[in-house]
Order: sequence, then structure tokens, then C-alpha cells
Amino acid sequence: MQKQSNMPYAIEVQNIVKTFGPVIATNQVSFKVKKGEIHALLGENGAGKSTLMSILYGLYRPDSGILKIDGEVVSFKSPKEAAQKSIGMVHQNFQLVSTLTAFDNILMGLPESWWRGRNWRFKKVKEIESLAKEYGLSFEVERAVWQMSHGEKQRVEIFKALYRQSDIIILDEPTSVLTPQESDDLYRTLKKLKETGKTIVLTTHKLREVMHACDHISIMRKGKMVASMPSSETNERDLARKLMGEMPVEVRRIEKSESSTKPSKNLLELQEICAKGLHGEQALNDLSLFVYPGEIVGVAGVAGNGQKQLAEIITGMQNPTSGGIKFKGKWINHSSIKGMIDIGIAHVPEDRLHTGMAGSLDAVDNLLMKDYKKEKHSNLGIMKHSRNLDWAKSIINNYDVTTPSANYPVRLLSGGNQQKLLLAREIEGDPALLVANHPTQGLDVGATASVHNLLLDMRSRDRGVLLISEDLDEILKISDRILVIYQGMITGEFEPSKATREEIGLYMTGSKTQFNVGALA
Ligand SMILES: Nc1ncnc2c1ncn2[C@@H]1O[C@H](COP(=O)(O)OP(=O)(O)OP(=O)(O)O)[C@@H](O)[C@H]1O
Ligand SMILES: [Mg+2]
Repeated sequence: MQKQSNMPYAIEVQNIVKTFGPVIATNQVSFKVKKGEIHALLGENGAGKSTLMSILYGLYRPDSGILKIDGEVVSFKSPKEAAQKSIGMVHQNFQLVSTLTAFDNILMGLPESWWRGRNWRFKKVKEIESLAKEYGLSFEVERAVWQMSHGEKQRVEIFKALYRQSDIIILDEPTSVLTPQESDDLYRTLKKLKETGKTIVLTTHKLREVMHACDHISIMRKGKMVASMPSSETNERDLARKLMGEMPVEVRRIEKSESSTKPSKNLLELQEICAKGLHGEQALNDLSLFVYPGEIVGVAGVAGNGQKQLAEIITGMQNPTSGGIKFKGKWINHSSIKGMIDIGIAHVPEDRLHTGMAGSLDAVDNLLMKDYKKEKHSNLGIMKHSRNLDWAKSIINNYDVTTPSANYPVRLLSGGNQQKLLLAREIEGDPALLVANHPTQGLDVGATASVHNLLLDMRSRDRGVLLISEDLDEILKISDRILVIYQGMITGEFEPSKATREEIGLYMTGSKTQFNVGALA
């Protein structure tokens, strides 16, 4: 082997193979990360990124291949052994215990977690608070994890790794659940950590942030490492080509013609809705909006401004404390999830594994979950198994979901493939209205374009879409109308062709507001 410079790599893997039954997740992968760099690992959904990261972290043992940390060959039997070599990981699906507080999660498993009295706890909380502040990671130390936003949970996970004095920090898709603002904060933190000599490896699908924030980029495709270069030697276009082996699919946006007449009746109308948040706070504040058939309405906003409650109210997961909901011209009182599904409202929730799917069930059962009683799928309570299997297989095929079989538990699918399956189920039900909360979260460039095309297809079939997203590019690309949500109110309404990112940004941060815009139905 060629002699390296004196400085060993922080991470060096050679010819790693990892299979799961029939799936070859990583196929002879070699990968090197220099000490003190921010290294991005890119790849389409199912390329093998999370698997490789989990091998570095000792969660999976490779079938064959060599792993070196700081030049020393290692063979981790567990994450504990990886932690002893100063490796910490922030997972794609968070690993925190949701019923415990951040404090308990951070100290879990450490000798210092043993109870040493109230005074000790008070001091420890203060210590964690000030350390977290130093790293630029803000979260409520004494809050239960289930009450936290995605961004907050993630900050707890990162802090947890740092608290264990990790020198190498692995982050699996750290920004897919973050707002643009939170992503900027995260990269600022990562740069700070890099300056103190930490090595960072992260996976992501967001090419723009990679170009801005990372020193080196490696690319996997279908289980193989296909390229590795400093970010100064590439650009977004080049990356997209290397990622997919071809140019990404274009989004087929067709502008509505000026002459196309607006339908006379709106599909959904919310009138002065008020609702409470998780902590009893006023999450929606006299919010009014409407969606017409054949329209994609984008709701832009910084996370935590009522988006979650907005989606929950429309999909029957929560009832408003006051205000009215009208769907297809009829008032809905005391909605339930089932009631909303029955009248044609579908939902892509932001938390796909917990709210959207049953992880231990297979693709067939997850696809059938909402519609199993329909005649197409069952007869007098008896499932039409072979028909349902063929039906599920054709959906898997049409939506390009990578899975060894339709009978594979969905929790074992890659994050992006879980998301594709969920979207497939909701869109296949042909709802009149789809409430899509971050529908492309965790999807690769090609899959994102496919989802945008699916939403545009819904629009052309006169369905309504409420697209809730923090990704302004996404909102500007496919919405017919953009609303901005701020502190539980709609504070601005824009036509995408006339709006600029900067202007919308001012409304998202509350610097500007138009009045009564939502109530103009
Ligand atoms: N524990 C597991 N059991 C069985 N198959 C698995 C397991 N983990 C991963 N796989 C399979 O290995 C392949 C690679 O998955 P991996 O999660 O590494 O992809 P990824 O690049 O992280 O994708 P994404 O961007 O969608 O998160 C996929 O086909 C996945 O279904
Ligand atoms: Mg992954």
C-alpha cells in the first residue's frame, strides 16, 4: 500500500462489505477522512450511507474489510467500543428516549448519571446549559424529549456526543429535519468544532450546503464509493451528475394560464382557527386560509410557528379550541382522523416512522393501512392476499422504492425509501386534499423531483395540496400561492412569480406583516 504522510487519517476504511440477507448495502467500500475536516458523504436513497456510518460507529459489524481509526486497525463489537475510541454518532432517526428529559438522555449510561442529590443536579443542569451555549446548541435541559421539535432533539443528540468527548462526530442527515436557519446554526457549530480539532463526517442530500460548508465530499452509488474530492474541485451540477450517473429529472412545472378561471368554490376553508400547542401555549391564533381545487398552496415558515398544529387540525389529529373548518362547502365539527380520511383528506406527516407508518409491518400492510376495508382489497373482512401483493409490488415499482421484497419490515428500509412509501400510500388513495408536511425530507435529488411532479399531477387533476415546508426553494418551485405562517397566524400571501426569497424571509422572521390576508376568502 502507498505510504501516507505522517499524519494518519482520522478514519480509513478499506473494502468494506456489508450485506443484509439478499441486499448488498456496502460493496467493497473504501473511504478516508482527514483529521479536522468536515467530510460530506452523498448518495441517493438506499446508496448505503447510513450503513457505512453505522459500521464506523460499531452498530453493525462488516462482513469483511478493514477499519482504521487514527491509523490503528479496530474491530468494534458495539457502539460502546466505538465511543471508547472517541466516536460519537447522531442518527438519522433519533435515538433519544422520548419519555425522558434532555438531561437524563445526555447523562444516560455515564457513571455521573447516578443520583447525587438535588444540589448536584441543579449544578449539573447549569453546567450543561453553559456548555451547550458555548457550542451554540440551545435546548431546554429539563424538557422531556417527546415535547421537543426536531431541531431541538437533534441539538440534544449532538450535545450528547460532544459530552462524551467524541473527537470524531458522525451525523446522519443532520439537516433534513432542520429549518434553513437551524441548518446555518448547525454548520456554524460544526465549524467551531472543527477549529477545536474535531473531525466531522455527515451525510446529506442538500448539495448547496455541502458546497458551502464541507471540505471534502465522497459519493456513494448503489453500495459503491464512486467519487471523492475536495469541495473546491467540484460544483452542484457536477455533484448531481456523479450522484445519479445522469442529469437529474427536471420538474415539469406548467404555469397556470392567466385565462384559467378559478373554481367557484374552495375546497378547504379555515376560519379564525385557534389551537393549543404541546405546552398549552397558543399555537394557532385566529388563523384563516383557503385552498381551491387544482391549487398547491405553499405554507412557508420557520419551524415551531404552528405548522404542526395546522396540519393536525386539518387532518383531525387535534381539534381547534375555536374557529371553523369547512371542506367542500360543509362545516366540520369535532373532526377525527378517520372522519377526515373518509371525506378525502390525506396527510404526509413530518414524523414518518412514528405517526405515518408501522415500522415492524411490511410494505404491503403499510400501503393497505388506510384502505384495507375497500372492496378492492378485501371481501367481507377477508383480505385478498395475492391481489394485494401484486398491487403493492406495482406501487413499489412505480414509486421507485428500493426494498428486497414487498414483505420486508419498513423500519429496515433506508430513510428515503420509507418516505417514498408513505407518499405513495397517500397519493394512491387519490385524496381531494393532501396536507404534505415536509414531503421531500430525506429524499435525494431525483426522488425530490419525482415527488414535486406527483404533487403537480395532483394539481392538474383538480386536487388541492397544502404544502408545508421550510424549504423555500421547494415552495417557490411548485406552489401556486404562498402563505407565510408566523406565530400561529398567516402574515403574508404571495404569488410565487412575484415573490423573492428575501421578501418571504422577512415575513417568516416576523419583520414584516400584511394584515388580514388569510381572511380574504
Ligand atoms: N438493518 C437492515 N436490515 C436490512 N436491510 C437494511 C438494513 N439497513 C439497511 N438496509 C438496506 O441496505 C441498503 C442501504 O441502506 P442505507 O440505509 O445504508 O441507505 P442510505 O444511503 O442511508 O439511504 P437514505 O438516503 O434513504 O437514508 C438499503 O437497501 C436498505 O434497505
Ligand atoms: Mg440513510
